[in-house]
Amino acid sequence: MQDSSFLSIDPVERSVSLDAGHPGFYQAPNPVYAALHAQTPTFYWREQRQWFFTGYDLVNSLLRDKRFGRQILHIASREDLGVPEPLAHTRHFDKAEEWSLLELEPPEHTRLRTLVNRAFVSRHVEKMSGEITDLANRLIDEFEPRGETELLSSFADIIPVTMIARMIGIPDAMGPQLLKWSHDYVGMYMFKRSRADEEAADRSAREFAEYISSVIAERRREPRDDLLSHMIHTEHKGQFLTEEELISTTIVLLNAGHEATVHQIGNSVRIILEEGLTSGLDPADLFRDAGTTERTVEECLRICAPVHIFQRYCLEACEIDGVTLARGDKIGLILAAANLDPRKFENPLTFKAERNEGANLSFGAGIHFCIGAPLARLELNIVLPLLFKRLPGLKLAASPQVKDVYHFHGLERLDLTW
Ligand code: HEM
Repeated sequence: MQDSSFLSIDPVERSVSLDAGHPGFYQAPNPVYAALHAQTPTFYWREQRQWFFTGYDLVNSLLRDKRFGRQILHIASREDLGVPEPLAHTRHFDKAEEWSLLELEPPEHTRLRTLVNRAFVSRHVEKMSGEITDLANRLIDEFEPRGETELLSSFADIIPVTMIARMIGIPDAMGPQLLKWSHDYVGMYMFKRSRADEEAADRSAREFAEYISSVIAERRREPRDDLLSHMIHTEHKGQFLTEEELISTTIVLLNAGHEATVHQIGNSVRIILEEGLTSGLDPADLFRDAGTTERTVEECLRICAPVHIFQRYCLEACEIDGVTLARGDKIGLILAAANLDPRKFENPLTFKAERNEGANLSFGAGIHFCIGAPLARLELNIVLPLLFKRLPGLKLAASPQVKDVYHFHGLERLDLTW
């Protein structure tokens, strides 16, 4: 049994008390995951009142298991499950989520994902590489002569939102507004959220949807070579995306499309610099060629993933790893902890760019596998080597603080000098 001010593990009962809002946890979750792996990789989290899974094989198989889904209301009523009625003050948010890929299950999910996939094909992603390089170089040009920068605001915040907005067909000038909407919107995914967070998310969902609707109208009149025009005109077996599906999909792509990538750029730069300090790792070796760059990017995704937990509903009663689950129960899959399973990765808390032990689970698995993974990987494989090449001698100017939002694991700021 392990005890600290924020963590207490009872391996016999497989019961854990863990304060997700305690800096001792969210500033450094990896040692906590290591303790869970050592004592009880499957556990009942008392504060969250549900079971959580951290074992790599279990998480990987649960993500693909048809007995679990992101949604439950397609097979059961609110009454059946005792789920409260939707709240009036979050109705615009709920509307925007109604057709979000992330919230659907087959057959609706299959139909929508097939249509979106047809528009979001790799040729659209690959042709972004020149633009990613140009934008990253332009941003570095601006701060390079100063010898210091706060990397999130001057670099990491800007690239993912600009790229996904350009792909969709939204002007660059909308970037700051999109960031604001998206930031308010993802406030709804926090463990602890206030009424004010909910109202901000709802207001932003309404404004976001109205704006997207006006761009859709423009593209219907005058199609361009952008993702939105492709989504409007994509057809599969005589079916098209409806107006509501187009709005929800555009919002989810814009939201999911940048927040995680912003944090992953920050987390990756931080771990590489810290490893340089502690184990003498040289960034030049990490980014020697495309192959080493790719392995470095994957090791960063494994050891400091930007989104830690995804939930699933149990769609039919079953037993998983000795835990009896009833229809309607929620479970938590901790992807970031699965990436640290010592049964899968040797010395999992150690950064080893040369690892060859299989895929990390940071982009999920199964039918909801991240649709934006090729774009996120392309961005990371371009911007990380570029930063270290253009700013030799890069180092941390201050000790980075992690944001107090457990759902996203990212930094408040990343102050650098060179
Ligand atoms: C490092 C960056 C990213 C990470 C770590 C990440 C992670 C994830 C994960 C774990 C899921 C699966 C969720 C689940 O199974 O419940 C997911 C789904 C999704 N992601 Fe990402 N993502 C990233 C970047 C992006 C980007 C750039 C886009 C858009 C261009 C995007 C769009 C989506 C969408 C639309 C889904 C839902 C897919 C579905 O449900 O069928 N993501 N992402």
